[in-house]
Amino acid sequence: MESLRVRPKAKELEALRAKLVKECGVCGGTGKILTGAFNGPNALFDDCKCFKKFLALYELIVGGVPSHYLKTIRKDLLPRQVKEIDHETGRPARFSKDLGELFARIIKKHTQFINRGHSLFFTGYNSTGKSYAAIWLMYRFAYRGHTVHYIKFKRLHGTILNSFNDGELRKLLSEIEAVDLLCIDEVGKESSATAQVIGEFEEWLKSRQDSGKSTIIITNLDVSDFRERYEASIWEALAEKFLILAFDTKNNFRRMHRRWEY
Ligand SMILES: Nc1ncnc2c1ncn2[C@@H]1O[C@H](COP(=O)(O)OP(=O)(O)OP(=O)(O)O)[C@@H](O)[C@H]1O
Ligand SMILES: [Mg+2]
Ligand SMILES: [Zn+2]
Repeated sequence: MESLRVRPKAKELEALRAKLVKECGVCGGTGKILTGAFNGPNALFDDCKCFKKFLALYELIVGGVPSHYLKTIRKDLLPRQVKEIDHETGRPARFSKDLGELFARIIKKHTQFINRGHSLFFTGYNSTGKSYAAIWLMYRFAYRGHTVHYIKFKRLHGTILNSFNDGELRKLLSEIEAVDLLCIDEVGKESSATAQVIGEFEEWLKSRQDSGKSTIIITNLDVSDFRERYEASIWEALAEKFLILAFDTKNNFRRMHRRWEY
């Protein structure tokens, strides 16, 4: 049975540590920095920034984030326009919300965000930067000590369906369910959403909300298509606590990148 968790390879992690910690000029490759005066055995040490970064990336690797996203994680999120969607009408509620600014506020209040179980719903066409934005956020939450997990919807429900007779998978599922911040990507890209899957999805969302956990849902469907495809009760569960953001089509990042490459 395929395991959901991307089990980090020792080699991969050793290479990551070598790159981030061993070559660090600040701590001289020890991963520790002295806080205050050095007074022999009572000296106080703190984790160096390089080591914190290593731990955050470790968390993401363990949390199933695709490695091609880890390469771009250090780049700053470009300022961009997103629309906040009114969950009742499905229409834009406010315009010109700058994503960078919004995320900066979220990160600044990261403990509050997690403790209050705030959640996000990203909608938008292909290549508008939804996955990137979510992973940018997850990295920062992981860096600050919260547990995160990234999973594609198709894989999640495949695992749910397969897990009934498999104790290992069940355990893994409850582990994923328990993380502080769970990102379910590519909702709506599955070929068929059976009633069972929709039921499970709803249950997942509700159980996370009931236990005050934060979730990021990402979909290519617009609000009305999403409502049509899934049960109304799912939408109601979402609308209750989720900030709904529509990603702009003008900033098509994949296209931008291609233009850059040539
Ligand atoms: N703010 C950004 N700064 C730099 N690069 C970005 C940014 N947002 C996205 N990208 C890059 O653009 C490409 C497309 O972005 P991404 O995969 O996040 O789009 P998406 O909306 O999730 O698309 P899809 O709906 O097809 O999954 C990726 O290679 C990503 O690294
Ligand atoms: Mg994506
Ligand atoms: Zn260092």
